[in-house]
Amino acid sequence: MKRTRIKQLLEEQTTGKNVRVCGWVRTFRNNQFIALNDGSCIKTLQCVLDFENFPEGTLKRITTGAAIEVKGEIVPSQGRGQSIELKVTELQILGDSDPEKYPLQPKRHSLEFLREIAHLRFRTNTFGAVFRIRHAAAFAIHEFFHNRGFVYIHSPIITGSDAEGAGEMFQVTTLDLNDVPRKETGEVDFKQDFFEKATNLTVSGQLEAELGALALSDVYTFGPTFRAENSNTSRHLAEFWMIEPEIAFADIDDDMDLAEDMLKYIIGSVMEHCQEDLEFLENRLIQEEKQKPQHERSAMALREKLQFCLDNEYKRLTYSEAIEILMKSKPNKKKKFQFVIEQWGADLQSEHERYLVEKHFNKPVILTGYPKEIKAFYMRLNDDNKTVAAMDILFPGIGEIVGGSQREERLDVLQARMKEFDIPEEEMSWFLETRRFGTCPHAGFGLGFERMIMFVTGMSNIRDVIPFPRFPGNADF
Ligand code: 4AD
Ligand code: MG
Repeated sequence: MKRTRIKQLLEEQTTGKNVRVCGWVRTFRNNQFIALNDGSCIKTLQCVLDFENFPEGTLKRITTGAAIEVKGEIVPSQGRGQSIELKVTELQILGDSDPEKYPLQPKRHSLEFLREIAHLRFRTNTFGAVFRIRHAAAFAIHEFFHNRGFVYIHSPIITGSDAEGAGEMFQVTTLDLNDVPRKETGEVDFKQDFFEKATNLTVSGQLEAELGALALSDVYTFGPTFRAENSNTSRHLAEFWMIEPEIAFADIDDDMDLAEDMLKYIIGSVMEHCQEDLEFLENRLIQEEKQKPQHERSAMALREKLQFCLDNEYKRLTYSEAIEILMKSKPNKKKKFQFVIEQWGADLQSEHERYLVEKHFNKPVILTGYPKEIKAFYMRLNDDNKTVAAMDILFPGIGEIVGGSQREERLDVLQARMKEFDIPEEEMSWFLETRRFGTCPHAGFGLGFERMIMFVTGMSNIRDVIPFPRFPGNADF
């Protein structure tokens, strides 16, 4: 008999049929009621057995965490809490779980504790919900771009370039670190390394996506990216997933429209397909926030917040306008910000971004026209010669969720900008070629996938929305 998933049984609600179900025991009550979960949905299936029909030895092995297979008939449930249940006629223990040693007891565990046992945390309600939603969001992203005729490009993971120019790269080498070959000058001789040059894990697939867009018009990447920034925050990972669309014959406004449409599509899709998981996470969040003082609690419940970001247009304004607002703001005047804004040109910290979104505008914000000094070399220089056609999207509770720009398509301007940033032309000759041959206006952005998942799940630490987080001092599992 084929295995039926619990999700399907609970959706169908068909009684009278015989089924085979497998899963992990959540609880076993009164030697009679098993709450069985197979991860297909957040709910458990109640499996009822008549203990007189099963040997004592088998009953003892039905413990929290054990994997079992049951066969029997789906019948209307007598008890409250569920409308159908499985009347067990056959039961087999597939994998025992010693109740004395199993770390996941049927009670509330802290997220910190669960992070230490990330190999088992998939089995909790919270992480089951988070990772089903993560899947739904990934699927929605591919669907969104596919429906619009975008081509999915697989950009390389190992590369010789630093796309963001921030120098936050993990080196990739097969050289013996105990006996590094050196040139006469004393520098490391990468000619003897695997790729015969210095390489690193990619910080962004953008530059390669640009090459694709300048032939295929509309492309996107969706892959892992790596940053060796020493940021021990709840919003930074050393390994995170990024979605980077790149569109040809498009300017910064097209870029913002695309990003807003995409974000709304993801939110809408998760709301449509993950109702039960969202409901669970919403209640989890309400419980968690009860421990906080009133003014620190969210004004809206999770699903209300998602609906709000679906229904409202994002506020678009320039960096200069934002600086005006921030300089006049109470926390700036009272020096409550950790970084007080003194003048135009200052880089915005997450405290400033969150003030704009959560206090001033109370909705998602798109900032454009940043000072060229604080943004990457590839962004298109505006006519004022001071700002670039960059855009950042800021979300409530998250801060920056998207970073993008119109790209500098003019060869001479790009060369001058690279000089300012001390980027050698030889290293980027392939990138410059696209500006020599058939260049055109184009734009793109990067969405931090984990920040998106934080937003839709309401989880407050980025380490809880990726199965096995990598951050300074941690690469377990
Ligand atoms: O703003 P960033 O650095 O932009 C780029 O990498 C561009 N190449 C994107 C493009 O235009 N194609 O990163 C984009 C997004 C950020 O807005 C943030 O959401 C996320 O990636 N991000 C991180 N997420 C988790 N951990 C980190 N260390 C992150 N750094 C950036
Ligand atoms: Mg950025």
